[in-house]
Amino acid sequence: TTNTIPKEKGLDNSIKLMTEGYNFIPNRLRYFQSTIFQTRLLGQKAICISGEEAGALLYDNALFQRKGAAPMRIQKSLFGVGGVQGMDGAAHQHRKQLFMSLMTSQRLKVLHNLTVEQWEIATRKWENMHKVELFEEGEKIMCRVACQWAGVPLWAKELKLRSNDLAAMIDAFGAVGPRHWQGRTARNRTEKWIKYIIEQVRSGKMQAPEETALYAMSWHRDLNGNLLNLKTAAVELINIIRPIVAIARYITFGALALHQYPETGKKLVEDDGEYSQMFVQEIRRFYPFGPFTGARVRKDFTWNGYKFKQGTLVLLDIYGTNHSPDLWDNPDTFRPERFGNWSGSPFDFIPQGGGEYDIGHRCAGEWVTVEAMKTSLEFLTKRITYDVPPQDLNYSMVRMPSIPRSRFVIQHVRRK
Ligand code: HEM
Repeated sequence: TTNTIPKEKGLDNSIKLMTEGYNFIPNRLRYFQSTIFQTRLLGQKAICISGEEAGALLYDNALFQRKGAAPMRIQKSLFGVGGVQGMDGAAHQHRKQLFMSLMTSQRLKVLHNLTVEQWEIATRKWENMHKVELFEEGEKIMCRVACQWAGVPLWAKELKLRSNDLAAMIDAFGAVGPRHWQGRTARNRTEKWIKYIIEQVRSGKMQAPEETALYAMSWHRDLNGNLLNLKTAAVELINIIRPIVAIARYITFGALALHQYPETGKKLVEDDGEYSQMFVQEIRRFYPFGPFTGARVRKDFTWNGYKFKQGTLVLLDIYGTNHSPDLWDNPDTFRPERFGNWSGSPFDFIPQGGGEYDIGHRCAGEWVTVEAMKTSLEFLTKRITYDVPPQDLNYSMVRMPSIPRSRFVIQHVRRK
């Protein structure tokens, strides 16, 4: 039997995406009483799907490809042109291996130590500050961590510029107008900077330690045995340092959860590791970050009676899947303990994509993210105390990416 995919009316619904944000897909699924619907976005047809089964579908490499999936405006700001996100097949696997080779337990330990060190340094400064905006300060901390971990030299006087630029690329992804253009400018400036550093390494003027991302990206060879061209090497190195800065968003949401659910802070302080794992998972499930991810149909196929035609853009609902009542008890309740007996499906909990790391497009940095979040939130609860003055802590479900409006201001930072 063939089923008809429910279809949203309108020549183009991009404006509605901009006004409904993270709830764009969930709102329509509810309206159509369906796990699938069709719409038009950015001048093309798009099929939106949600849930665990939908995840398994989108990550089937035989049916989907990433080539041509990401809109140019996203490539020019967030991703960069020519990076791993848009690759397929053997070339993708080879490039992905380059990323995954950096994610060893030893390198995660290094990341942990660097993160603690930067929180220590920041605390010394904050003790003398009247108020601290945790989000922006967290981005600077993570920028330092990212550059040190990746082997990229960063002078104290350029910290603000580089941190702001890496943050602006992330902040641009759901934007039109000035925020989008700031993201593009930031990307151009960052690529120029990173290209220069890779050139220094390649010409022997700078020594990159072998275990770092700087070394890996500078000397990686593609399947034909060629070095990456300078631009691509820079895009991939930025694909390491930019998302480490992005972790500051989750850390800020973590601080928000500690504030709104004070019992979680007590449990973190008493914790020997298990609770912090569950807490961090719940932060990544509960708070909005990536709204959806997308791929193009590689060849015609039928799924649950629905026809998918070659070339169609398909979007997988990340936020909605993480909040689906079919998959999670009381999905809109913040409850870290739910991860105590979570079965660990690769497709029900997808804040950083689903499926497999090596052959699929699942986020290469998920372990880095979890490690940096745990380390940071343990520091915030076990090593320091602070006050949270009255402020607007609401976060928008329309602005993508979201963040508490006040950027989470803290005061009277003291060591425990
Ligand atoms: C891919 C989210 C942190 C590196 C992705 C994807 C998402 C995502 C949704 C796309 C999955 C897909 O399309 O199937 C996040 C979030 C992060 C984060 C919310 C939290 C801050 C990181 C970190 C790194 C990283 C820390 C590196 C150190 C990558 C790379 C890809 C990716 C290289 C592309 C993988 C591929 O195309 O094969 N991430 N990520 N991410 N992420 Fe992350």
